[in-house]
Amino acid sequence: MAKIIGGITTSHIPAIGVAMDRGIEDTPYWKDFFAGYPPIREWLNKEKPDIAIVFYNDHGLEMFLDKKPTFAIGCAPQYENADEGWGIATIPPVTGETELSWHIVNELIENDFDPTVCQDIKVDHGLTVPLSLMYPGRNYQHLKVIPVSINCERHPMPKPSRCYAFGQAIGRAVESFAGDQKVVVFGTGGLSHQLDGERAGIINADFDEECMDKLVSDPEALTKYTNDELTEIAGAQGVELNMWIAMRGCMLGKVKEVHRNYVAPISNTGAGTQLLLPED
Ligand code: DHB
Ligand code: FE
Repeated sequence: MAKIIGGITTSHIPAIGVAMDRGIEDTPYWKDFFAGYPPIREWLNKEKPDIAIVFYNDHGLEMFLDKKPTFAIGCAPQYENADEGWGIATIPPVTGETELSWHIVNELIENDFDPTVCQDIKVDHGLTVPLSLMYPGRNYQHLKVIPVSINCERHPMPKPSRCYAFGQAIGRAVESFAGDQKVVVFGTGGLSHQLDGERAGIINADFDEECMDKLVSDPEALTKYTNDELTEIAGAQGVELNMWIAMRGCMLGKVKEVHRNYVAPISNTGAGTQLLLPED
């Protein structure tokens, strides 16, 4: 059986990718933010997971407002990205993990989730920035990737409780996969932010810290929010918390937090990161 060995959360702000490409991680603006990542990189380097399931949201590179799957999962042998207009470099493709992807798709549909199945999709900063952050030089070693996207852009969006249940269904599918692969799960995006409109720039650091606490000890509490409430409390793009909630669902049992960092603002966002390990 494949095994989920850990969960990683991180914001996916495009400016992070630009900062890495320019080599300005140690400048006063960025240093506290980037100081949050070496412990996670060290853990990845020690554990060397075989597969990363990445919950992300497609901001329009592939799935624009005219075609917006609620949940989508990649089943492709590789994933390319493209210029999104944020100034981040186009990077080499990441390798897909098709067997586990298809197993997850089959299990999801058998268990009443009906994701869009994507055999050819480009992946945007929601996926590429977190992977670039965790693997310096984008040296992914033997890591294979399964992109799982959740609609956070266009109403109606899936509720936090549904995202949690979706993550749990994926976690159970991983557990039923014949193999001995080590799987790491990423929840990307968030935390509080709003990129446009009258409340552009809103950040709620207290709420962000509380979310990170609850993600560890009481994730079901986070599933009680509606997306309208999340928008009110954490801004329109605060709904990206749903990817963290799905990641936590995927971990199934109790977890312990072994690392956390939070800096606000980075670009327009309360930028958090955590490393969660299953509690035996
Ligand atoms: C920013 C944050 C995001 O989550 C995103 O998708 C794009 C931009 C930002 O803070 O700039
Ligand atoms: Fe985003």
